[in-house]
Amino acid sequence: MLDNENRLYIAHSDHPLYIEPKMANRHGLIAGATGTGKTVSLQVLAESFSDLGVPCFMADMKGDLSGVYKEGTLTKFIEKRQNEFGVTFDFQPYPVQFFDVYGEQGVPMRVTIKNFGVLLFSRIMSLTDTQEGVLAAVFRICEDRNMPLDDLKDLRAALNYIGQNAKEFQTEYGNISSISVGAIQRNLLALEEQGGDLFFGLPEFKIEDFFVTERMHDTKKGMLNILAADKLYHNPRLYSAFLMWLLTSIYNELPEVGDLDKPKFIFFFDEAHLLFDDASKALLTQIEKIVRLIRSKGVGVYFITQNPMDIPENVLGQLGNKIQHALRAFTPKDQKAVKAVAQSFRTNESFDTEKALLELETGEALISFLDEKGAPNVVERAKMLCPQGQIGPITEEERKKAIKESGLEKSYRETEDRRSAYEILIDDAKKQEEQKSKEIAAKEEESKRKQKEKEDEKAQKSSKKRNKAIWKWIVTNILKPLGKALVKNITKKR
Ligand SMILES: Nc1ncnc2c1ncn2[C@@H]1O[C@H](COP(=O)(O)OP(=O)(O)OP(=O)(O)O)[C@@H](O)[C@H]1O
Ligand SMILES: [Mg+2]
Repeated sequence: MLDNENRLYIAHSDHPLYIEPKMANRHGLIAGATGTGKTVSLQVLAESFSDLGVPCFMADMKGDLSGVYKEGTLTKFIEKRQNEFGVTFDFQPYPVQFFDVYGEQGVPMRVTIKNFGVLLFSRIMSLTDTQEGVLAAVFRICEDRNMPLDDLKDLRAALNYIGQNAKEFQTEYGNISSISVGAIQRNLLALEEQGGDLFFGLPEFKIEDFFVTERMHDTKKGMLNILAADKLYHNPRLYSAFLMWLLTSIYNELPEVGDLDKPKFIFFFDEAHLLFDDASKALLTQIEKIVRLIRSKGVGVYFITQNPMDIPENVLGQLGNKIQHALRAFTPKDQKAVKAVAQSFRTNESFDTEKALLELETGEALISFLDEKGAPNVVERAKMLCPQGQIGPITEEERKKAIKESGLEKSYRETEDRRSAYEILIDDAKKQEEQKSKEIAAKEEESKRKQKEKEDEKAQKSSKKRNKAIWKWIVTNILKPLGKALVKNITKKR
């Protein structure tokens, strides 16, 4: 909800708490134990950004965020908050585009293997550094030879070919060990079994399709782009790498804009800790860099996670607008986290931050947003506003209707299979095969010719021999006796 100065009215302590639109690109955090209200807080934020005309992206872990597509209804909980805050929430629907990498609960979202990149691809296949090096060489060879890597079969074909001809590439691209190639191939197979073949390929998702603003109820609202992640989430590495790819693409495609009155786009990264679990140093550096630089492109990133301590300090330190729901402190480790989280806020003399963290009720949070100058405000114990869309999932039919309305099916539903590495290598193999059979046929022809020559020679020899024998016979049996008879006759006559 916006106030009359267009600030995002998000929560209420004894006074309203606002996110300043021009500070919204200084990133944010929504944290808290399970069931404390993180998803609903995300919804409240996303709706407010949409009210401001700012499009957002969010992953929907359980399907409950789909509710923004419909207007909400009054519940006892909401009625109580309205009375406490002295405001009335206008229930209203929001413009939504549903996406799903599996193509079931939304428009399919695909990416080519080449654009996904070596770093993220290695991550989803859990490759070692050596294997990652080999994969990088395979990517380079394909690039240099104009063999596009679109889908998994392209990569498989390229790996087979490069593995078989490793010696040929060694001087230019370094050692390509057959052990590494074999390991990558095995991981590729596992990825395929998890449905990876569905979301690597063409047509690739175009980031510009996120940036839609819709005219609804006479206000220009920002589009809420929701990725169904309940299935994808079962493969945490695939899920987090896919989101990281989206964020990287947004970063790559948007121009520098400096400080704006309001952000251009908000990216909610739910279950953010998954991105950092066992992340390589290279990936961590990349994440830090993108989070730091994407701000100047007008993009705010809001991380959602149970325990903020799961986010590396270099990233956590960049998150300016914080909503911290209740934490649990069952173990000494939990207690340590509670202390650390409490210390990350600017103290409010009126309450004990650490104690409050453990007492917060559902939909209540410790909040610190950035002030107009970008400094963190003193922490407040506050109650979140309630969403204006529905809390909880919509029906299948409603989802189908929304997907149809988005008009994106025609661009993304059907896959495209252009001539890429797989087709190129198959053609090459065919040509080589044809060349081989031609050579074999020519050799056979030649040996037949030689055989015939030999036979002819032999035949000639034996016919000469026969002729000689005949002559010998004629001479011995006919000519010689005839000569003798003639000589006899002549001598007789004399
Ligand atoms: N601001 C709010 N306004 C109205 N109801 C709320 C609010 N916050 C939380 N609730 C209620 O509390 C329930 C649980 O909140 P929510 O689903 O956001 O928790 P969560 O922290 O995301 O849980 P999980 O970790 O399991 O995903 C909601 O379904 C809703 O009924
Ligand atoms: Mg949730």
